[in-house]
Amino acid sequence: MVLRIAVQAKGRLFDDTMSLLHETGIKLESAKRLLLVSATNFPLEVLFLRDDDIPQSVADGIADIGIVGENEFAEKRKRASIVKRLGFSKCRLSLAIPKGMDYPGIHWFDGKTIATTYPKVLGDFLKENKINADIHVITGSVEIAPSIGLADAIFDLVSSGSTLVTNHLKEVEVVMKSEAVLIQHPDLSAEKAAILEELLFRIESVLLADDKKYILMNVPTENISKIVEVLPGMKSPTVLSLAKEGWSSLHAVISEKEFWNIIGKLKALDAEGILVVPIEKMIL
Ligand code: PRP
Ligand code: ZN
Repeated sequence: MVLRIAVQAKGRLFDDTMSLLHETGIKLESAKRLLLVSATNFPLEVLFLRDDDIPQSVADGIADIGIVGENEFAEKRKRASIVKRLGFSKCRLSLAIPKGMDYPGIHWFDGKTIATTYPKVLGDFLKENKINADIHVITGSVEIAPSIGLADAIFDLVSSGSTLVTNHLKEVEVVMKSEAVLIQHPDLSAEKAAILEELLFRIESVLLADDKKYILMNVPTENISKIVEVLPGMKSPTVLSLAKEGWSSLHAVISEKEFWNIIGKLKALDAEGILVVPIEKMIL
């Protein structure tokens, strides 16, 4: 019994998806780009598809699970459910209009034509906001629609924003925030569900370790309790005594963002020889 996962064959999610699988310790059969590749050390098969086809393939059971942008999943409305948000490939679906236009608010869109590849997500948004606009569905290069007179505005995926800048457009409404998600077929067999559970355990360990760092430092023993207050630790830190009288070595796990906030406080409490090292995996 193997679990089949559909992933994007190329494009925005590909690299991060492959490195996530890699970090879970799952090795794939060959580097050759086949459509379907088996793992050699885990009951998993990887099916490479266009992102647009992933929700359907999971709903139909062609794949048991899939990794896809939430934006695609939301648009396709297929029978599958989100198991886990993966935190990478963050982007948003936004409305954008020509840069030079005044934008007084959402009613600007009344009576306008909007080009998009996401008609369902857009349709819901317009309805909720009681906007009467025409949706013009096109399959690609949405961003050029206003300049060639095909539409007044666009509704599209924005990541870095550089596509908008290049095309003299400005983002005026963020309709949906998106990231890569793991989706599953609605009814997996008990055996497949068990494989998924093991895979999820590994994925969670990788994601948890992602922005976490292991921090080691030498501190005056008398300052330990104050330093512990500064460290927003997940557990109580490890304290080891040093050969040097009155000094201890303190180890803790912190998130990288927190590190920059606390470094000054640690130094003020006479912490020395602060060492920050990456964590590959973390199991709680
Ligand atoms: C999206 C979108 C824009 C671009 C935005 O296309 O349609 O063209 O990315 O990204 P930016 O804000 O970083 O410039 P994508 O390359 O994902 O292709 P697809 O929509 O055909 O899947
Ligand atoms: Zn696509």
